[in-house]
Amino acid sequence: MTPPMRLVDPFARAITYLRVSVTDRCDFRCVYCMSEHMEFLPKKELLTLEELDRLCSAFIGLGVKKLRITGGEPLVRKGIMTFFRAMARHLDRGALEELTLTTNGSQLGRFARDLADCGVRRVNVSLDTLQAGKFARITRWGRLAQVMEGIEAATAAGLAVKINTVALRGVNDDEIHDLAAWCGRRGFDLTFIEVMPMGDLGNEDRLEQYYSLKDLRRDLETRWTLADTTERTGGPARYVRVAETGGRIGFITPLTHNFCESCNRVRLTCTGQLFMCLGQEDEADLRAPLRAHPGDDAPLTAAITAAIARKPKGHDFDYSRQTVSGQVSRHMSHTGG
Ligand code: GTP
Ligand code: 5AD
Ligand code: SF4
Repeated sequence: MTPPMRLVDPFARAITYLRVSVTDRCDFRCVYCMSEHMEFLPKKELLTLEELDRLCSAFIGLGVKKLRITGGEPLVRKGIMTFFRAMARHLDRGALEELTLTTNGSQLGRFARDLADCGVRRVNVSLDTLQAGKFARITRWGRLAQVMEGIEAATAAGLAVKINTVALRGVNDDEIHDLAAWCGRRGFDLTFIEVMPMGDLGNEDRLEQYYSLKDLRRDLETRWTLADTTERTGGPARYVRVAETGGRIGFITPLTHNFCESCNRVRLTCTGQLFMCLGQEDEADLRAPLRAHPGDDAPLTAAITAAIARKPKGHDFDYSRQTVSGQVSRHMSHTGG
């Protein structure tokens, strides 16, 4: 019997987690993610749903066990349920262990039930505040009530919910206790994320808004009893258990604690570029071998293997000494976070 295929990078890290951005578009314009007047890709540049299927299936054939669909906002991509349904076949045959998505929640009211039917078990919903006015300021175009309805629909459909909150000093540092209490009551995991220097927002703003999760954790501990755990959900978050609520809080710390040594993931954009690291510019074009050989996956597989062999050790984000370094010019929406 031939051994199962595996993708292993130069630092002996097995790549088992593929994040796929299915669109660069979004119905929100979060200040740390996009500029207000974004230019989106012409539709013809995008991989078709069939091409996305072929690409993801190739990765699964190479040992990817976890597929996370991202954007932009993945649920604004036309026909996206067709793609989820197609991926469900890999869950059914046991090749894929988890099919999931990261969403802003705005379309969950429409799609939560269908997602659950496709074998999705949990969703990560980005939510930085529980206050409607502030929500509108952060997302520019979003409505908190619609996201709350989406979260209700997800819960009603039996999906587990993890809330992702980007920690922003002077913006939502006054809400960490409210978020912890609300998630604890609802049984949602909550993860805080350090804001990363991506896109074209002025550097001064990033520095001013940077709220290190070391500080955030200390601030949380003024009210809650936190116990470290070794629990993982496949991503970079480190979790603590909150004694008072029984809930879990995760910390994603690209700035204060680099977690790259355990990196297991790569990112595919909606145009078929593979980014081997969120915090580096190097990319590999998979669309060319995909389109040049419609009936033969061997060149595609070779391109994937060659790309993984270039995966860098890690990112270089750094705000120390009051300057931003390691900045990446791409918008987060390009690679889906
Ligand atoms: P689960 O553990 O499965 O819940 O997934 P996850 O935390 O990997 O997924 P999610 O989309 O919720 O990730 C949250 C955010 O963490 C992303 O949007 C990024 O901002 C950040 N993140 C995830 N992976 C990386 C990574 O490899 N490097 C860096 N710097 N940030 C990452
Ligand atoms: N820094 C940290 N997280 C970011 N996200 C978007 N832009 C940034 C940034 N500059 C987060 C979103 C969402 C995920 C997809 O990425 O809030 O949770
Ligand atoms: Fe859209 Fe998410 Fe970016 Fe906000 S962070 S603009 S919801 S892709």
